[in-house]
Amino acid sequence: MQSPAQSLTIINPKRKRTRPQGRQDWYSFYASFSLPFAREIIASAQLRPAALVVDPWNGTGTSTLAVALNGRRGIGFDLNPAMVVVGQAKLVDHGDLAAIETILRSSSKWRRRIAALEKDDPLLVWFSDDAVSEIRAVEKCFCDLSSYSRNEGRNGHKAWFMHAQVAFFYLSLFRVVRTMIAPFLSSNPTWVRDAKRDKQRIRVRQGTVGTMFRTICQRMASSASIEQVDGRARRARVDLAAAESLPLGDGSVDFVLASPPYCTRIDYAIATKPELAVLGFGGERLRNLRHALTGTLTVNGSVRSPSKEWGPTCLRFLDILRNHPSKASETYYLRTHLQYFSSIAQSVSEIGRVMRAGGRCVLVVQDSYYKNIRNDLASIFGEIAQLSGLNLDRRQDFELSRTMARINPRTKKYRCQHTAVESVLCFSKS
Ligand SMILES: C[S@@+](CC[C@H](N)C(=O)[O-])C[C@H]1O[C@@H](n2cnc3c(N)ncnc32)[C@H](O)[C@@H]1O
Repeated sequence: MQSPAQSLTIINPKRKRTRPQGRQDWYSFYASFSLPFAREIIASAQLRPAALVVDPWNGTGTSTLAVALNGRRGIGFDLNPAMVVVGQAKLVDHGDLAAIETILRSSSKWRRRIAALEKDDPLLVWFSDDAVSEIRAVEKCFCDLSSYSRNEGRNGHKAWFMHAQVAFFYLSLFRVVRTMIAPFLSSNPTWVRDAKRDKQRIRVRQGTVGTMFRTICQRMASSASIEQVDGRARRARVDLAAAESLPLGDGSVDFVLASPPYCTRIDYAIATKPELAVLGFGGERLRNLRHALTGTLTVNGSVRSPSKEWGPTCLRFLDILRNHPSKASETYYLRTHLQYFSSIAQSVSEIGRVMRAGGRCVLVVQDSYYKNIRNDLASIFGEIAQLSGLNLDRRQDFELSRTMARINPRTKKYRCQHTAVESVLCFSKS
């Protein structure tokens, strides 16, 4: 008889570049795994009807969408509120779509709205005062028409447990803003420039934002029907939480499906700076979020030395990194790597805590290089997980042709001769 890990169907997690089609294409993110990969894993996992599936690093919500489409029960967590909105928006069901259509049709209501300008609005980094007022008027309109309080949304935790209908409207507004700031985007998807001078700030003709917004909403609503999510989608949801401290009871989770943050110097907060600006995150709030995300490029000094719980492969890697002759290896780069592994070890231990005995966990990880030193994340995760009571039952590797490390030109000196490997790791808790 096959073991539970052997019976999982594992296809290449990499997303294929196809013409945008369904919900999964509502928001493009370089670090997502593919929807068919997630659906195959969940479909082949032979879960009992009440099983709970969790993704502690939910990103754009591929896992939670797969859970909903497969008629399962699941929760996705992410520490980045922009990602919580994207993941939650994809869970709109028939009822939400009908309500969205009704709201979009009340065009007279859209025209009458005006919004006062707040002088520290983070959107002012790219847009003129008038353009920001237009964007905020659209936001005010869909919030009012959906009976959602923006202030509640901006201040507290409740904010991010947002109804899928409101999240859908926010996601459309994210897309309007991203389209408009195209001149400030570069080939590196994780970097967004600010306007240097007032003259560079984007101006818009009156009504343009509302028209674009409604067009994008309508396109998304019609593509939503490619994958039908019925009322059972309510069995899947997305919430704001840190993977290091999940709001779940011990032994309450049957299955974990996730891809942790990479160790390739990606600033996940800056990558979503426009979306966060729409949600009111700028200045100190944005800085705090940057510090908190796993894999941050900022040093908070909280981790000063490695822990033996990170396993021998990790300790060997950190030792070689510390002794590398290149500038700042033993200072800045060592510290950011210490922070990364500390956060990963805490998160994996948290996964071990919330999983029930016999529960399973599938993680997609990518190896990377520091200069010419291989950071073998798959082996490191295997060792860290073992210390958290998780056994590695199966590993499947896929070679990657295009990685974030290759997109970053500064890494090319050391990196170009290596190919990257994405590994699917299947664990179980005994
Ligand atoms: C590799 S991406 C996940 C991509 C996801 N599988 C998808 O298909 O879109 C990692 C995610 O982890 C999130 N993240 C980073 N640090 C976190 C933390 N400490 N707790 C929870 N989420 C975190 C990032 O915001 C990012 O969305």
